[in-house]
Amino acid sequence: MAENFSEHKSVLIKNGVIVGSKKPAVDILIENGVIKEIGNVTNHPTDIHIVDLKGAYVSPGWADIHVHLREPGREDEETISSGSDAAMAGGFTAVCCMPNTNPPLDSEDMITSIKERAVGHLVKVYPIGTVSKERKGEELAEIGNMVEAGAVGFSDDGDPVYDDALMRIALEYSKMFGVPIVNHSEVRSLAKGGVMNEGAVSARLGIPGIPSHAEDIMVARDIRLIELTNGRLHVPHISSIETLELVRRAKAKGLAVTCEVTPHHLSLTDTNFEKFDAAYKVNPPLRTEEDIDALRNGLADGTIDCIASDHAPHSPEENEADLLDAPFGLVGLETAFGVCVVNLLDTKVLNLEQLIEKLSAAPRKIYNLPPAEIKVGKNANMTFFDITTEWKVDSSQFLSQSRNTPYEGMTLKGKVLGVVNGNKVYQAD
Ligand code: DOR
Repeated sequence: MAENFSEHKSVLIKNGVIVGSKKPAVDILIENGVIKEIGNVTNHPTDIHIVDLKGAYVSPGWADIHVHLREPGREDEETISSGSDAAMAGGFTAVCCMPNTNPPLDSEDMITSIKERAVGHLVKVYPIGTVSKERKGEELAEIGNMVEAGAVGFSDDGDPVYDDALMRIALEYSKMFGVPIVNHSEVRSLAKGGVMNEGAVSARLGIPGIPSHAEDIMVARDIRLIELTNGRLHVPHISSIETLELVRRAKAKGLAVTCEVTPHHLSLTDTNFEKFDAAYKVNPPLRTEEDIDALRNGLADGTIDCIASDHAPHSPEENEADLLDAPFGLVGLETAFGVCVVNLLDTKVLNLEQLIEKLSAAPRKIYNLPPAEIKVGKNANMTFFDITTEWKVDSSQFLSQSRNTPYEGMTLKGKVLGVVNGNKVYQAD
């Protein structure tokens, strides 16, 4: 685990402003990982670890429900340990990891092994299992056994569940077990060969495009299938106006659909491809200003439930390849909050309480994760941060093992100061 990490029987968080409370700064006393007292704490053990927040914010610990940890298979890009370190530096106390590893997380044993490897870290890792055996999109994986082993949802992310009958059965299972099916929404034949958003910019640059209807046609199918099955659908990394509209209508009908948006789809457009840099190559692709505006409105009006990074580490060799051959994906755990402050808070799309809800309570609810609450008697699970410090993205400082960020050199705002989970504490420099 990263430096700046420590474990203590007793911890005193001093002078923190709890997001959403009308009160000024308070102290929070933690004993054996449990919140003992909130207020002006004067009476505490002498042998205690003190974190003085000097008036910075404290909120329930954030959860990133869409990360790729690359273990097993590509430990050169990320491991459960390095990815969890990156999560902690980004302010997250929990992550859900996607199963497109090598081999994929498609069995009880694989789920158990991820959980075992994550033990002892501050960040709680919740594995997502595959929908299909070997992630081949043909036969349903052992969903029941994986739920029993601790899988919190199911996805073939990176690829869609393109077989309609398989998706239908998966949704039947999601109803039975009360877990979401998370379908990477992409009609392959429409997206095939594409590298960036299909539109005026791709036409001008002569780069093959991925049309937004490759996303919304798949989501339309999935929504029809939850109507038939009463299953639970979670739409990951929503990127376009049309998809948003489909989710909005499905929610109005009372269907069990939730969705997430990434910080990059809220902040970057396809015009970045003018730099011919694979750091901007992500799937679904960066779209247009109009899409960004719609997605921001969708977050504000509750159509979009939460924010998730889709942290997708890739090696420098792969990323420096020709644009057409470079893999899709970018790292996002350590820039997520700074991007949100600049693009959602400073622009007044969300207020601070709403932003924190989208990073903490809402994502936890989608996967039935235990809630993080700042209340006496609850397990300590908190994030400390400010919303004013400006900082320049320098990927050489990332705790992630990978550096493929589109925000390199950019000034972001809002510093994560630390996290606590039980008796484990991480404090940023
Ligand atoms: O850009 C992406 N990268 N989108 C995905 O859905 C998968 C991910 C990856 O695994 O690299």
